[in-house]
Amino acid sequence: MYQQVINLITEMRSNGTLQTGQKLPSLRNLSASLSVSIPTVKQAYVELERQGLVLAKPKSGYFLTQQYASDQPKKARLPNKPMAVSRQQLIEDVFKSIHQPHNLALGVANPVAALPITKTLNRTMRRVMSVMGDKALHYGAVAGYEPLRRQLAFSYMEYALPLAPDDIIITNGAQEALNIALQCVAKAGDVIAVESPCYFGILELIENLGMLALEVPICSEDGLTLQDVKKAINKHPVKACIFSSTIANPIGCELADEAKQQIVELLEDKNIPLIEDDVYGDLYFTEKRGIPAQKYSKKGLVITCSSFSKTAAPAYRIGWIATQKFSQRCAQIKRALSCSSSHMNQITLFEFVRSGDYERYLTQLRSVLMTNKARMLNKLQQLLGDNTRISDPKGGCVFWLEFDSSINSANVFQLALQQNISVSPGMLFSPSNRYQHCIRLSYGLPWNDRLEEGLKVFAAICKEAKNT
Ligand SMILES: Cc1ncc(COP(=O)(O)O)c(C=O)c1O
Repeated sequence: MYQQVINLITEMRSNGTLQTGQKLPSLRNLSASLSVSIPTVKQAYVELERQGLVLAKPKSGYFLTQQYASDQPKKARLPNKPMAVSRQQLIEDVFKSIHQPHNLALGVANPVAALPITKTLNRTMRRVMSVMGDKALHYGAVAGYEPLRRQLAFSYMEYALPLAPDDIIITNGAQEALNIALQCVAKAGDVIAVESPCYFGILELIENLGMLALEVPICSEDGLTLQDVKKAINKHPVKACIFSSTIANPIGCELADEAKQQIVELLEDKNIPLIEDDVYGDLYFTEKRGIPAQKYSKKGLVITCSSFSKTAAPAYRIGWIATQKFSQRCAQIKRALSCSSSHMNQITLFEFVRSGDYERYLTQLRSVLMTNKARMLNKLQQLLGDNTRISDPKGGCVFWLEFDSSINSANVFQLALQQNISVSPGMLFSPSNRYQHCIRLSYGLPWNDRLEEGLKVFAAICKEAKNT
């Protein structure tokens, strides 16, 4: 209920009905007009105050604070030629430092850290162990635990996708799903179209498999455009594409369903497979979840990859591939790569989903992430001023910051590390060394004083980096 009050105020603030400095209705008046309790309105006001959107003045009431605004990052101009990827060393260096437990992990995209579900998962796993005994510790089937595969196949019914349990292959996270999907449709030397900026794990896979990456620019507001995809595939021998079908990492934009459909039709017309990365699909902030691109496939050339890493536990390493056409080949590659995925973790996740705990958790997690996003955006705008372009994520857990060209994100990365703060420097996200003045920051963290202090330190570092 209080979230609805927050949504109403946020909406009226962005459409201009409520303005900076304006006094909000009293608790009593708003509770009467919305037919909700006074504590509900109070909770909403307190939450808005924590987000920095409202100021409580003793004995006077609640007032809207100044609204900061920043532009969105610009769409990149790219070389438009396929290239060998060489990001592994850089990724290794960054990984070493961003996963140090004492660092404030602004560089790690781990949304569940904002609201850990540890107790529920522990309880579920203990129950599984006591019921299954030794069997939970045995090797499982190559394609995965059948009840979980059936459950996942069932979840696509919502999009009228008639997937069978055999069309689902359980993998070690989405990273292995993407790896298998890539190996299934392309080989060394082939050109793979990726969005730019692109999640660095995909670039590392392309590098590892000896393939070439072709960057297709995405725009902060609308994501990929049909025109850009058309240009890429008309000009180059693209063997396959890997795009985020819902929320993109690092930009956080969401591809509209209509654009998605047009892109799938265009690619299938040329018999080009699309590997869709849907790991952030369930973490949407919009009214409803984006539809997986596979829904629009007529030839079965769309392979869906996803996981529970962003929505339950990355350490479980459980992801999946959904494909009718390529399922047999994917299972063969899976067997060759890792035999099977953790049986124990699959059963635990199956029980977690089946009990309804997962859906309830997702609702809470989305709400916490949305609040974190609003708070962090407000803080960043206040601290960095309006020279920094900041993305407006439609879901997920990261901001993409674009500074002016005087800031080198590699310097910011090093300076931040000296202060025990990790950030992800922009060059990680491009094979052509773009985005040197960009940084990815995560709001998938518990909101506390350390985080607020860390943001201040980060902003001071950015100013320092600009002047050196
Ligand atoms: C866009 C995207 N795809 C795939 C992955 C890999 O996910 P997993 O941890 O399930 O392997 C990540 C993880 O950060 C990601 O951000």
